[in-house]
Amino acid sequence: MSFTRYEPRMTRLYRSKLFVPGSRPEFFEKAAKSEADVVCLDLEDAVAVGDKPAARKNVIGALNDVDWGTKFVTIRINGLDTHFCYRDVIEVMEEGGERLDAIMVPKVGVGADLYAIDMLISQCEEAVGRKTQVGLEVIIESALGMENVNEIAAASPRLQTMHFGAADYAASTGMRTTNIGGSNADYTVLTDEGEGGARDAHWGDMWHYMLARMVAAARARGITPIDGPFGNFNDDEGFQNQAKRTAVMGCEGKWAIHPKQVPLANAIYTPPAKEVERARAILAAMKEAEAKGLGAATLDGMLIDAASIRQAQGIVAKMEQIEARGA
Ligand code: COA
Ligand code: MG
Repeated sequence: MSFTRYEPRMTRLYRSKLFVPGSRPEFFEKAAKSEADVVCLDLEDAVAVGDKPAARKNVIGALNDVDWGTKFVTIRINGLDTHFCYRDVIEVMEEGGERLDAIMVPKVGVGADLYAIDMLISQCEEAVGRKTQVGLEVIIESALGMENVNEIAAASPRLQTMHFGAADYAASTGMRTTNIGGSNADYTVLTDEGEGGARDAHWGDMWHYMLARMVAAARARGITPIDGPFGNFNDDEGFQNQAKRTAVMGCEGKWAIHPKQVPLANAIYTPPAKEVERARAILAAMKEAEAKGLGAATLDGMLIDAASIRQAQGIVAKMEQIEARGA
């Protein structure tokens, strides 16, 4: 390990984050009773411009009146390029009480965007005498944000999670998709000619680079990476496929833009039983090896060593957290 270390800041489960437009108060109780680990009361893109002030009032009411149980409760404010942004922070911080866990900032482009929101939050916390600190979350969803992702990851001690927003990212970079988080049949690799001259086209993962880059930037600073939305909520298989890929890459959860995506995300971001079993076997085998004074050992014909212990410990710890929660 380097002498420089950043401990993980998000210690809560974050497998599913259910989005609820602030302008749809009839959804609030349903979201609170859902199995989502996290809820996000949205003031940004799911709310029409004319509804912004009313949505803010609804969200403040929901923070004060709805029983959110053990959920991690967040709001998404409007971007720093809008005049809704400062009021979102100030009104919610002044009138929303203590139940708000974190504020999500969309379309962050530079570290100073977070610095500005952190300053507003800090002033509000002091003014209202808040007992707990509000966390920050960012969405990387623009070319500027991606180019400055390392700076953003280091921009505020409040920052806990970093999210990838495929739709706005595609809009910002000119990527050709119309389906939020979906794929494009033109993003393929063609094989050489096989027998009879046939060639196969293999679909590529057009989101791979962005996610890999964000995961590394986030993890380097102790921030938890989370995958964003998959718009076609009637395509369970498509959602599951995308979620599996990002879970393999290190994301700890994914947005649910409809309640039916919540159980899908909870299942996929729970370590698979086979991986948990193997992780427990690795820990047992390494304990035995250590007792014999060995640093490396074999398990089922494969090398395991200290790095295997670290991987296995992460999987087992996550599983224990899920078991303790009882879902
Ligand atoms: N939170 C909580 N409950 C929700 C919900 C949500 N986001 N979306 C739907 N529901 C409820 C409905 O009230 C309905 O409940 P009922 O069976 O008791 O009547 C049930 O889930 C099924 O809803 P359905 O009719 O399939 O959905 P809809 O047509 O009413 O709404 C959306 C579909 C996509 C508009 C809605 O899910 C939504 O607003 N999602 C969030 C969008 C968002 O925030 N986007 C920003 C981030 S990308
Ligand atoms: Mg967006």
